[in-house]
This record gives sequence, structure tokens and C-alpha cells, in this order.
Amino acid sequence: MLTKGFSTVNMKSRVRSQSSSSSSLFGTTRLFSRNSRHAAAAVSSSRRVRAVVLSKLGLLYSSSSGSTTAVAEFIKAEMGDLVTDPTDPEEVDDLKAFLADCEGFIMGSPTWNTSALTGRSGLGMDQVCEQLRAGELSDVVGNKKAAVFGCGDGFLYGDNFSEMVDEVYHALKGAGAEMVGHWEYTTDDSDDENPRYYDGFTESKAIVGSGGSSPDGQSQGSAEEGSALYGLVCDQENHSEMSEQRVKVWCEQLKAEMA
Ligand SMILES: Cc1cc2nc3c(=O)[nH]c(=O)nc-3n(C[C@H](O)[C@H](O)[C@H](O)COP(=O)(O)O)c2cc1C
Repeated sequence: MLTKGFSTVNMKSRVRSQSSSSSSLFGTTRLFSRNSRHAAAAVSSSRRVRAVVLSKLGLLYSSSSGSTTAVAEFIKAEMGDLVTDPTDPEEVDDLKAFLADCEGFIMGSPTWNTSALTGRSGLGMDQVCEQLRAGELSDVVGNKKAAVFGCGDGFLYGDNFSEMVDEVYHALKGAGAEMVGHWEYTTDDSDDENPRYYDGFTESKAIVGSGGSSPDGQSQGSAEEGSALYGLVCDQENHSEMSEQRVKVWCEQLKAEMA
């Protein structure tokens, strides 16, 4: 159970209202075309709703001052009916039921708690991670594909850049999710319009090979030496103009990796 502060919004009804039965990317068409008798039965029962909802990726995010909300909205614009509406876990009555109804997940959060070992956002995503690490969500997350994204400030916090991405990634992985969505980056400033180009940041646990996957679970990678982050990172403070393009490129990758 998420411990506190969760309001009364019923996520099942929200997800239902967004559902579409036309997507084939995650198998909805297959579910309904297997034979017409089953399809008719499904239409007349709540199983139809469940089958449609299962074609969705749950798009969950936390945000304190709106940066991660903006990025989540870009992701929704790119992914359309393949994802739920951007949903703050603090507004979900029953997180486990919400996750159970999803085919996979895209989870995002800012980093606000510099250098913290856990609880790096100070937001609802911290509690999601706690539940994942405690094994409370493994049965609804395990063996499903998941990707993470985050927002950080590459100049003010360049030595802890977007480290919540590492925390969410490893919490999901530990719960048995199949992680996709690694984001290759470059620090080569000869190509500064490339959506994969980052300046400012020097170190982060979100660099693939560091953080939760390192032997001590907490070591940082060097930006110069690394080549990929555990998920998409946007810097709305310094390079908001690049976020939409970064999201576009990342979502194309996700559509292939999550298919
Ligand atoms: C107190 C504080 C601590 C922060 N710590 C980090 C940090 O460790 N790493 C980082 O990349 N950004 C850090 N940031 C920057 C935020 O992650 C950044 O402003 C982000 O865009 C906020 O996203 P939000 O509006 O979705 O909450 C910090 C900001 C504040 C105010």
C-alpha cells in the first residue's frame, strides 16, 4: 500500500474512458479476433474492458514544479492510445490494481533529493519505489516491459544529474520488470543540436553501469566515460527547447522495444 496522501480518483474508470480497441501493437486485435464467439462474449462483459486496458502502457510520473509533467505530456502526445493519460501515483486509489491492468510501464520523476541513497524525488514516486523494492508489486510488474524517464538540472546538480532515473529503473528491475529504453547520449559539443547531446553534467548514478547495478549499488558514472543513461533524461531548466525532440526520438525507440 502507498502510505499516505492518495486521493479518491478512481484510476480504473479513468483508464477505461481513454481506451481504444484499435491498437494492434500490444495485442488488442489479437485478443478480439481469435474467434467471433469469444469476441461477442467479451463485448458483453467486463472482460472486454480488461482486454482493452491491457493493451496500454501505464504512464506514471511525479513532478514538483511541472517539468516532469511537461515531459510526460510530450510522451503522451507521441505515444497516443498506447499509453494511459499521464498519471500521478499520488492520485491513484489502488496502485496495484492500476499496474495490474497495464501491459507495461513508462515511469518518470525529477530528482530533488541530492545525493540521497533512496527517496530521491521527495514525491509519490519514492513510495512507488519503496513498494517495488519491498516486493509488494512484483506480481503485477514482473515480466512486463518498463522504461523510465526523468528531469534534472545538468548545471546546478551536474554531479548528481537526474539520479532518480537510476532509483526507479532499479526498483522496477528488482521487481522483475524487463527494462528497455536506455538512452544513448553524447557530450561531443561539435554536434550540439543533436537531441542526444548533453552539456553541464559530469557525474550521475543514472549512467548505465553505475548506480543500482554497480557492486556497491551507489557508485556514480562519469559523463565523459559513459555512453547511455538508464532512461530518457530531460533538462527543462537549461535545455527545455530540446525536450520535445528528445521525447520523439525516445518514443520511436520505445515503440520498437516494447512491441
Ligand atoms: C532542492 C533541489 C534539489 C535538486 N536536486 C537535483 C539533483 O540531485 N539532480 C538533478 O539533476 N536535479 C536536481 N534538482 C533539479 C530538479 O530536478 C529540476 O529542477 C527538475 O526540472 C524539477 O522537475 P519537476 O518540476 O518535475 O519537479 C534539484 C532541485 C532542487 C530545488
